[in-house]
This record gives sequence, C-alpha cells and structure tokens, in this order.
Amino acid sequence: MNIAIFASGKGSNFCAIVRAIKNGSLSGARISLLVCDNPHALVIRRAKQFKIKTLLVVREDFYNQVSFEQAIIQRLKAEKIDLLVLAGFMRMFSAGFVRSFPRKIINIHPALLPAFKGTKAIRDAFDYGVKITGVTVHFVDALMDHGPIILQETVRVLPQDTLSVLEKKIHTLEHQLYPQALKLVIKKKLKISGRKVVGVTR
Ligand code: GRF
Repeated sequence: MNIAIFASGKGSNFCAIVRAIKNGSLSGARISLLVCDNPHALVIRRAKQFKIKTLLVVREDFYNQVSFEQAIIQRLKAEKIDLLVLAGFMRMFSAGFVRSFPRKIINIHPALLPAFKGTKAIRDAFDYGVKITGVTVHFVDALMDHGPIILQETVRVLPQDTLSVLEKKIHTLEHQLYPQALKLVIKKKLKISGRKVVGVTR
C-alpha cells in the first residue's frame, strides 16, 4: 500500500512509521511522499535522510483552499497514493477533500477523543487535571479530530508528572500505536459498521 504522510512539524511520528516499515513490523506499506505545509519543518530534513520525496505546499501561495487542495490531490494521484496518514499536519481539509478519500485518511490525536480536541490537547488535558489521558488513532471525517476510532490507548498522569513528562509519555505511546493502527488498516482487519469500527478480525 502506497502511503503519503502529512506533517508540519518535528516528524517524530513520521520517523516511527518509517522505522516500523524498515524493521518489518509494518509490512505491505511504502511511504512514497511527505506532504508538508511548513518550509521550516524538521520533518522535511528527516524525509530527505530517508530519501522520501516531499511535496511542499504553502497555503498562502494558493488563491484559495480549493486550489491548494487540488494541487495536493493532483500529486497524490500522480504518486498513486492509497492512504493519507496525518501526523501533525496542522491544517484542516475541506469536506470535499475528505469525501474524495473515503476511509482513506487517518489521523493521530494526543488525547482520548472526543475529549480535548484541538492543537493543545496534551496541555489542555494536563491543565484540566485529568488522571488518565491517552492517544487516539482515527479515520478522518469533515469535522476536526472526529471520525471512527481505530485504536485508543491510555496514559496515566501521576501526581509528580510535569507537562513535559506527560508529553514524553504521550509521544512514546504515539510511536507504538500509530504503526499498530496502520497495520490494521493495511491488512484490512477492521470491521466497520456505520460510523464505528466495531471489531478487529484475526
Ligand atoms: C503529535 O503529538 C500528534 O498527535 C499531533 O501532532 C504531533 C506531531 O508530532 N497530531 P510529530 O511531528 O510527529 O513529532
């Protein structure tokens, strides 16, 4: 399966997925493209190290959202991409874009959805004082941080944990959970009914 990873930042999840493919724990997958909207993102350098092509698309360089998304779609088609994997891509897609890739866009969120949506999820959960938070991998629909949940795993917040300790715990879990969830999708192991993932086949 041909994957495009969408990322705007550090790319630690990008690296975790690349590693999982290289060490054989995520077989049947190939990352053909990084899509990045931030020319200064560290993930671009990481893609270069792994010899993965990058499509840099800066929204401000396009007349509107439609032309921005058209440029992305054109390249995804040219690269024959089967699966869009969002890993810290800090931009929403239009409903039309999402509809063009039914059940083909996956996202990771650093909290237990539907709690703590948005870009500051780890901090928001920490500031709220939750005792348990976690990570969610889900299919993307037209709403923000929304869509059928593929996998979720919890992280305990201990009384002595600082925000940076919690961030570390969350990221460590993300790097395990994202390859696991992608494996289920790639191997077509998910049973989906309506808007829910209702089971996993062996
Ligand atoms: C991750 O915490 C992910 O859950 C969120 O954005 C962050 C990306 O981190 N959507 P990285 O660029 O993969 O290090």
